[in-house]
Amino acid sequence: MSHLPYQYHAFLCAQSRPEGHPRGCCTSKGGGAKLYERLAAKFSEKNLWESGKLSIATSSCLGFCGYGPLMVIYPQGIWYKVETVEDIDEIVESHFVNHKPVERLIVTPEKK
Ligand code: FES
Repeated sequence: MSHLPYQYHAFLCAQSRPEGHPRGCCTSKGGGAKLYERLAAKFSEKNLWESGKLSIATSSCLGFCGYGPLMVIYPQGIWYKVETVEDIDEIVESHFVNHKPVERLIVTPEKK
């Protein structure tokens, strides 16, 4: 039996690895803390914390580094490649506020 406490539970990869690491990392591709700060700021601006149904967090590696910088939203299992603060703004407005996924940013990570 599953329990889903959130309508949207988002994880933004903030993994960092040394330069030259074979897997790279989302932070070196422009993801990580800078984008999370924007995400959190937008959540506050739009009062998205209030319902208690939405949650955001940074994460360590989500396992699909080649697709990054990545964000995943559960339980829907929607993966976004998020490269700019403008991408964050669009996801907040479209996905979190209007419940409409941002098709242009969706990726489908697969194990190789
Ligand atoms: S470093 Fe972000 S998915 Fe691996």
